[in-house]
Amino acid sequence: MSNPFASVRWKVMLAFFLIIGLSFLMMAGTLMNMLGEYLFSQRIQADRAGLEKWAVQAAGYLTFSDAAGLDDTVRRAGSELGGRILLLDAQGKVQADSFQTAQGRRLDYPEVASILVSGETADYGVHSLKTGEAATGDRMLRFAGADEWVSYSTAGIVSSSHVVGVLMLVSSVRGLMQGLTTVQTQMTILFVAVAVAAVGLGMIFSSVLTRPITEMTKVILRMSKGDLGARVEEKGSGEIKQLAIAFNSMSNQLEALNQTRNQFVSNASHELKTPLATMKIMIESLIYQPDMDAELRTEFLSDVNMEINRLSSIVSDLLTLVKVDSRSSDLHKEKLSLAEVVKDAQHRLQPITSQREQEIVLQLQDSCDMLADKSMMQQIVYNLMENAVKYTPHKGRITVSLQRVGKDAVLSVSDDGPGIPKESQPHVFERFYRVDKARGRESGGTGLGLSIVQQYVNLHDGRVRVQSEEGQGTTFIVELPLNKL
Ligand SMILES: Nc1ncnc2c1ncn2[C@@H]1O[C@H](COP(=O)(O)OP(=O)(O)OP(=O)(O)O)[C@@H](O)[C@H]1O
Ligand SMILES: [Mg+2]
Repeated sequence: MSNPFASVRWKVMLAFFLIIGLSFLMMAGTLMNMLGEYLFSQRIQADRAGLEKWAVQAAGYLTFSDAAGLDDTVRRAGSELGGRILLLDAQGKVQADSFQTAQGRRLDYPEVASILVSGETADYGVHSLKTGEAATGDRMLRFAGADEWVSYSTAGIVSSSHVVGVLMLVSSVRGLMQGLTTVQTQMTILFVAVAVAAVGLGMIFSSVLTRPITEMTKVILRMSKGDLGARVEEKGSGEIKQLAIAFNSMSNQLEALNQTRNQFVSNASHELKTPLATMKIMIESLIYQPDMDAELRTEFLSDVNMEINRLSSIVSDLLTLVKVDSRSSDLHKEKLSLAEVVKDAQHRLQPITSQREQEIVLQLQDSCDMLADKSMMQQIVYNLMENAVKYTPHKGRITVSLQRVGKDAVLSVSDDGPGIPKESQPHVFERFYRVDKARGRESGGTGLGLSIVQQYVNLHDGRVRVQSEEGQGTTFIVELPLNKL
């Protein structure tokens, strides 16, 4: 994992942070807005009520242009409402100022315009008067202090249903703004705390989530280094547990497969070694006994020849199995009659059966025409019949029957030989398996014949099974689907 940010752990942490952080920010924003609105609405109401009351009083003085009356009104209003009071005429010109500095100036603030131009009865606005930034008009209305938050409240002065002026209250909202800023600072601190908690939680959660994956990776690495017995713990619940169970079952199969392979290789080496050792002994005798008589020499050489035949047949059986394993053996299907294949095998076995005075009885009820790989079918039938012949004593009787049952061709090869013990029956299809090792080798068997039969039957989507009673004989039954014709 070269890029740490690509890990699940990091992603989970980031997701936690984003989800918790964003929800917190949204909540905090809404809360701040609500708080601000709540605080200011109380202030606006109070300001407006006060202004409207004084506007009524000022209306008379303004109509009669009573400067002293106006000055007196703004002064008293200013001290009552706690701010600077300005009285403007219908043109927006200051007629009276409780601070006595702005008389005669025109103020074109939006709060004034909304009353004079748009016909509102009252308005409200909050402004920041920052040093240097503010317009001349703003600076004029500044309170003490460099950075100041002020509110402009205005109310129309009405006389005979006409707006004749505007009464304006400029007051500090520093207290309110400071309150809001304090809340904001606290919120920011809280946000940092929440963010740290989110990251911490994310770390804990992601480590819980990724620990099984990390453990599994370690086990996989151990296995890839050859320790096939390594397994992961199947703890927890849900998908991770399912994954662990699936992984362990795959590992079991891998281990079993590895064992089978080792067994196969050691069996194969052993089988190849035996004929080689025999040949070595005979050839050494030929070398060290140059004066050996001709008849014995020929006998030795023909024995060597037999061993070579055995070797080459083992090697070709092994190659056949390897080909089926690697699925590189393609089926060359052609139309054939299974009955003909049986007759053919009987013919090929004729020399052995006549020598052993055995009888092969054929009960071919159907020709069982089918599409199949001919050489594989020949091998299936021949291997089964050869076994029957090989393992049945002299004068034995072998019965081969073929019939059509539903959509299957059913071939059965029975003999009245020694039978196969119950405990050996499940193993006869295994590679190199021989019921009686000594007897098997003496009769030339390697224990590969039935493995090949089973593989070829499987390739044709068929089934093969054995039925046997010790001392009474053996029957191999093969079912092959005919429906593909
Ligand atoms: N008809 C049978 N009667 C008794 N035992 C049998 C019969 N067929 C097979 N077996 C037993 O099953 C074992 C496996 O058979 P398989 O055909 O796979 O190997 P093999 O005959 O020993 O060698 P190969 O066929 O490779 O030359 C045999 O060694 C034998 O012990
Ligand atoms: Mg055999």
